[in-house]
Amino acid sequence: MTAAGTLRAALAAMLLLAVGAAGVIARAAAPALDAARSGPCVEDPLVMRRSHMDFLKHDRDDTVRRGIRGVKHSLAACVDCHASKSDGRVLGSDRHFCQGCHRYAAVKLDCFDCHASSARPAATAAAAPVSGAAR
Ligand code: HEC
Ligand code: HEC
Ligand code: HEC
Repeated sequence: MTAAGTLRAALAAMLLLAVGAAGVIARAAAPALDAARSGPCVEDPLVMRRSHMDFLKHDRDDTVRRGIRGVKHSLAACVDCHASKSDGRVLGSDRHFCQGCHRYAAVKLDCFDCHASSARPAATAAAAPVSGAAR
């Protein structure tokens, strides 16, 4: 290889390393959240990421103000699916699904002052044999 060729190869290798490192940093910056116990989600996950707060609030108004039950976006159902496989909760650490992302996004919720942050026992039993969460 010529000197110029060697230099080019070295530069290319450095560039690859830099891109690789940037990838690692980008991934480390996003929260690593507990995987769902089952699926699919009630909406497309990308839609959920953007709009879950609107679904929940809308349904809360329907339920509390107008007494409508059996809504699609039940908070208890979110918790059943998104609770940690190890302790059954959506709160507790920065890996826990609701807390992890909200800590990252600096969002504070009062919902769990009243609503259970643990999966219901039936959902916990149903989730027992975990086979590759739907990712
Ligand atoms: C039947 C199980 C199930 C239910 C019920 C459910 N989800 Fe999901 N949700 C999933 C799955 C599976 C994914 C895809 C990501 C994963 O595997 O963790 C997902 C993805 C998401 C995401 C995107 C996460 C990300 O990293 O971008 C959000 C936010 C979310 N769900 C919130 C909710 C909320 C809020 C509710 C209740 C209104 C809910 N989910 C109900 C299974 C469920
Ligand atoms: C002061 C207590 C309290 C707080 C705080 C609270 N809720 Fe509720 N919520 C209730 C009660 C009571 C009901 C009606 C009874 C029921 O269905 O469990 C309800 C029902 C709901 C329902 C429909 C039933 C279900 O299980 O999905 C949703 C969705 C809901 N709330 C979401 C929220 C969200 C999101 C927050 C936070 C932004 C919140 N709630 C904060 C008391 C509360
Ligand atoms: C992938 C990230 C992510 C996950 C996971 C997530 N959230 Fe959120 N959530 C957000 C962001 C970001 C906001 C603030 C959006 C805004 O301010 O417009 C938010 C806001 C909310 C709000 C409205 C708060 C308010 O007072 O306005 C509720 C309610 C909520 N999330 C419920 C949940 C529940 C319940 C879970 C777990 C089942 C959950 N979220 C999981 C990112 C997430």
